Amino acid sequence: MKYNKPMRIALLGLGTVGYGVYEFLQKRSDMEVACAMSLVVPDGVTCPIVKSIDEILSDESIDTVVEVIGGLHPAYEWVKGALSAGKNVITANKLLIARHYSELVALSKERGVALRCTAAAGGGIPWLTSLKRCAEQEPVIRISGIMNGTTNFILDTMHRTGGSFADALKEAQRLGYAEANPADDLNGADIRRKLVISSNIAYGGVVNEDDVAVEGIEHIQDVDIAAFKRMGRVCKLIAASRKLDGCIAAYIEPSLVPPSMPESAIPDNYNLISLTGQHIGKQSFYGQGAGRYPTAYNVLQDCVDVLGGVDCFYTDRLEPLRVDNSSVERPYYVRTNGVDKWLQARIDKMLDCGIMTKAVSVTEIHAWAKERRKTDSSCFIASLR
Ligand code: HSE
Repeated sequence: MKYNKPMRIALLGLGTVGYGVYEFLQKRSDMEVACAMSLVVPDGVTCPIVKSIDEILSDESIDTVVEVIGGLHPAYEWVKGALSAGKNVITANKLLIARHYSELVALSKERGVALRCTAAAGGGIPWLTSLKRCAEQEPVIRISGIMNGTTNFILDTMHRTGGSFADALKEAQRLGYAEANPADDLNGADIRRKLVISSNIAYGGVVNEDDVAVEGIEHIQDVDIAAFKRMGRVCKLIAASRKLDGCIAAYIEPSLVPPSMPESAIPDNYNLISLTGQHIGKQSFYGQGAGRYPTAYNVLQDCVDVLGGVDCFYTDRLEPLRVDNSSVERPYYVRTNGVDKWLQARIDKMLDCGIMTKAVSVTEIHAWAKERRKTDSSCFIASLR
């Protein structure tokens, strides 16, 4: 439905992203903040602040709910309530969308309202909207790239300055890039949710988050970075999925990229995400993947799309997608405090502070690393690209 009056928005959350959205909306005449709900209300906010979601759900003048509180609860109940009440929902909440994908997509379809989450993957990049446009015309066979601003900022800072992991993380938090719980950035949980949502839209199905293999960067040390520099490689946290026969491969892992790959040059909080279409080949999308204004910008763009008549999710295909990473093989850098039988059989080269393996499958090495951390909690692996 195209609007012939200003969109009336209830804004859930006035934090880093929420306040950015609020500021953008102040400059518009085609959208207005009817009210906001937030534990903390920054100085200068003049819209009515409501205390209960029921006040929003029962207010028929409110057509759109923007959810930027993050987390699973109460976001899940509030978003479900809003869709059930026939209101459009625009959210940046990747945890919520990845976890309750089928239910929320089906509910928005049943109620005939928009559910949009472009800011949930790629920060300010028009990634999900471009992916949707491609997937509608053309089989998408692969997606891959840098999809977490915080970890890219940390890795880039460590490579550039030789500084510590802890200092780089502190700075990423100060700049508003990290999640409320930064462990989700570091252990790969955040990027995994983005890969799940992207894969669902790309391949037209539903991936179970737990099936996606994930290795984060929480165990990386400055000695690893120094070793990668000697190898002439740059460490990046890469998410990748690809279509296989009857299933998909989907995984996240630190990866040692050569200078010839564009990913090696991605600075600060930027993301670079690529799709490969069957006929069109590779297309890449680049921009700030985290932070107040980039993320708020994509929330605003979703509002503009809904205002222009968009009244659904990016796809309504909900068949389960099976994940199998056993056919994806690469050599890996491994730093651990000893060599067990499994590793011994796969050594290709001993390095100053680690080991380079022969090609091994994602399934095998991810399982090995998890087991290995029971005796060496600082064990770190990274694939060689
Ligand atoms: N913590 C996330 C990131 C925020 O660093 O990418 C944007 O999704």
